[in-house]
Amino acid sequence: MRLQDKVCVITGAGSGMGRVACGVFAREGARVAALDVVPDAGARTVAEVRAGGGEATFFPCDVADEQSVRTAMAAAVDRYGKLDVLYNNAGIMPAEDHSVIDTAVAVWDRVMAVNVRGIFLCCKYAIPQMQRQGRGSIINVASFVALVGCSVPQDAYTASKGAVIALTKSLAIQFRPQGIRSNAICPGPIETPMMTEWLLKDEAARDVRLSRQPSGRFGRPEDVVNCALYLASDESDWTNGAVLVIDGGITSNYF
Ligand SMILES: NC(=O)c1ccc[n+]([C@@H]2O[C@H](COP(=O)([O-])OP(=O)(O)OC[C@H]3O[C@@H](n4cnc5c(N)ncnc54)[C@H](O)[C@@H]3O)[C@@H](O)[C@H]2O)c1
Repeated sequence: MRLQDKVCVITGAGSGMGRVACGVFAREGARVAALDVVPDAGARTVAEVRAGGGEATFFPCDVADEQSVRTAMAAAVDRYGKLDVLYNNAGIMPAEDHSVIDTAVAVWDRVMAVNVRGIFLCCKYAIPQMQRQGRGSIINVASFVALVGCSVPQDAYTASKGAVIALTKSLAIQFRPQGIRSNAICPGPIETPMMTEWLLKDEAARDVRLSRQPSGRFGRPEDVVNCALYLASDESDWTNGAVLVIDGGITSNYF
């Protein structure tokens, strides 16, 4: 198994890609600390993992809140004794996020608090444990929207994901000498609750996006989680500071 004996913290574990990741990582032998701000959702994920014979524990956590992150990270290490992988997957994409000229400051700040401060805080409280162990893998979820412009803007979300990429590179250089790798994944549009709520109900918006997608379909959570599995495993020992674009080719599409 590819993650045998590894302890993996996965944020945003209650839905979408985080939920699928908990199942895949556990099937590959990981002990999973599943963190989410919605207790019912996180607990449901853990129940599914356990029903499949895997090992997982739910820890309530709002990644935007320092005390909450400190408590959850300490509880995860307490439960499993170590921390090998931090999969910073939690993120939000509110419908009220548009262009800079019509986005409220409160919306901008909330997106930054979850998508950027959340990763900062999880790293702040996970890296010291990884330093003690002399190894670790940090996986930060950015987005394809950080790489290309879009005529239907979500400027807070886009800026937040650009920050995730920049922070990932800084972490990669700072901590690799101590055995800690950091990489970012840029998923393209993936069929998860986040996307289906925002886009897939609007047929015109859906069609225009699919017409740009050379693979002819939206992504599935597994498409991204398989990349994260590689980054979590020792197979990626020499992959550091990488920005892996898993998008079906949409960002390569000029016309
Ligand atoms: N779905 C896509 O098309 C897509 C594309 C590119 C990037 N992404 C990114 O992938 C990641 C996962 O997205 P998804 O589509 O699976 O989303 P999702 O909405 O289905 O799941 C996100 C999870 O994060 C949790 N969460 C939200 N705020 C939190 C907080 N403050 N603290 C802890 N948990 C919190 C939610 O409760 C939920 O369980 C996000 O970072 C998202 O920005 C998604």
